[in-house]
Amino acid sequence: MTYRLEMKEMTKKYGEFLANDGISIHLNKGEVLAIVGENGAGKTTLMRMLYGLEQPTSGQIKLNGKNVKFSGPLDAIEHGIGMVHQHFMLFSDFTVTENIVIGHEPKRNGFFKRTAAAEKVQELSEQYKIQVNPLKKAGDCSIGEQQRIEILKVLYQGADIIILDEPTAVLTPIEVEELLKTIRFLAEQGKSIILITHKLPEVMKVADQITVLRNGRVTGNVLKEQTNIDQLATMMVGRELQQLTDRIQLDGEPLLEINDLTIGGKDAKPILDHLSLTVHRGEIVGIAGVSGNGQSELIQAISGLRKIDKGSIRLGGTTLMGKSVAFRRSAGLAHIPEDRYLWGAAKDATIEETGLMGFYKQKRFNKYSFIRKSGFRKLLRGWIDRFEIKATSLDDQSGNLSGGNLQKLIVARELGFETDFLIAAEPTRGVDIGAMEYIHEAIIEKRNNGDGILLVSSELSEILTLSDRIAVMYEGKIVDILDRNEATEERLSVLMAGGNENGSSTKTTTTA
Ligand SMILES: Nc1ncnc2c1ncn2[C@@H]1O[C@H](COP(=O)(O)OP(=O)(O)OP(=O)(O)O)[C@@H](O)[C@H]1O
Ligand SMILES: [Mg+2]
Repeated sequence: MTYRLEMKEMTKKYGEFLANDGISIHLNKGEVLAIVGENGAGKTTLMRMLYGLEQPTSGQIKLNGKNVKFSGPLDAIEHGIGMVHQHFMLFSDFTVTENIVIGHEPKRNGFFKRTAAAEKVQELSEQYKIQVNPLKKAGDCSIGEQQRIEILKVLYQGADIIILDEPTAVLTPIEVEELLKTIRFLAEQGKSIILITHKLPEVMKVADQITVLRNGRVTGNVLKEQTNIDQLATMMVGRELQQLTDRIQLDGEPLLEINDLTIGGKDAKPILDHLSLTVHRGEIVGIAGVSGNGQSELIQAISGLRKIDKGSIRLGGTTLMGKSVAFRRSAGLAHIPEDRYLWGAAKDATIEETGLMGFYKQKRFNKYSFIRKSGFRKLLRGWIDRFEIKATSLDDQSGNLSGGNLQKLIVARELGFETDFLIAAEPTRGVDIGAMEYIHEAIIEKRNNGDGILLVSSELSEILTLSDRIAVMYEGKIVDILDRNEATEERLSVLMAGGNENGSSTKTTTTA
């Protein structure tokens, strides 16, 4: 049988390390292939070879039965392959249209035909039911809109095979639903889609066939009709998932106390609006909200990355007002940042340096003012074991870790500070379901230990699983605080959309 795409026995070696070990996949017109597997299983590597970003060590790529070799992404694009990366690569000062047509602008006598370009974008947007505003600046677009720009760009370049590497990790639940619809629609229009995700319910919604990878090899290829979530989970992690440990009843004193916190916005509306919140010892407080309602600014204000206009923040009785990030850390604050590349790690730093960030200030590693390397390395190896971080060597660059493995390293480091208080923002973003279980377990353990945790997550299921109390944020305010046993996904969704307790919505849902 001739497939639209066939990758045969693909192998990629980095030094002695086999990132891909004889992986074969195939894909037909109008089909959605989901690729799932643990962090570091080799998913992104396989796709980078298909998009011409990496050269295979061995193996064969065939398009419609013909052998092809791509010298680089431009070559792959020429052959009808498009890739939407997880970290968008848009020019923020350019309009939506300019970003889509860049490199392939419609021109007359060498001049860019602006109107023709905007019309073409409008046409594509209607044809594929992907909504964008062609004249808006990309920098003013929400994450969801930016992703739609990337997809339209790939369609504009004429892609028949579209690679989406963890596209839903950064989206709100509403945006996820829209994207899944778009994927199905593109397939109906004859496109072939490769979707990488850790979220098995999404796989069951859109995929036709599923390939499971583990340690650089294919461990299964199944049709959607012939499988289910439990089976896929077992195939992925090679074991059954556990129940979370029980919580120990604790009545802790207040630890983080936020009072009347206000941050002004550019226009009249404040970003944080007289917000007050307390996190006690032995408690996980979850923040639920549609992204863009002030959650990021709240975290930045607590961790010292953003100035506030009014109000107070205290940790264990000590004021944090006007204090540096370093002071806040030494006062007992750890922080798993929502964007691991922006705040969590430097790509060029080694794994050891990334793990060490912030640690050299601690007495136990700093005796006689030099870093006690062996002690630290032992600790680091312990984390690598516990969270199953796939790393070849501690001296390797952090940038070479797969997305999920870097996330695990940052989580391990922040837990490793053993502070009284932790901000956990999107703690399991991009990690596989096995690692998610370890991270959840570690957060509960920290809580049982009497520490306080502020959890911010766009995954409602994560908020509901972990939180003791749930604060709902809407337009910079905390509109309600629910106990874990009174919270349901439905009730939270209504509150998150600005609705009131009776379930009726007083305002329309924000789009961001
Ligand atoms: N340039 C590189 N040099 C050395 N090792 C690399 C390089 N790129 C990837 N690797 C290693 O190859 C393995 C596979 O990485 P890959 O990014 O393909 O994983 P993945 O399945 O996409 O994982 P995740 O779900 O975490 O994104 C990882 O262990 C990674 O550390
Ligand atoms: Mg990856």
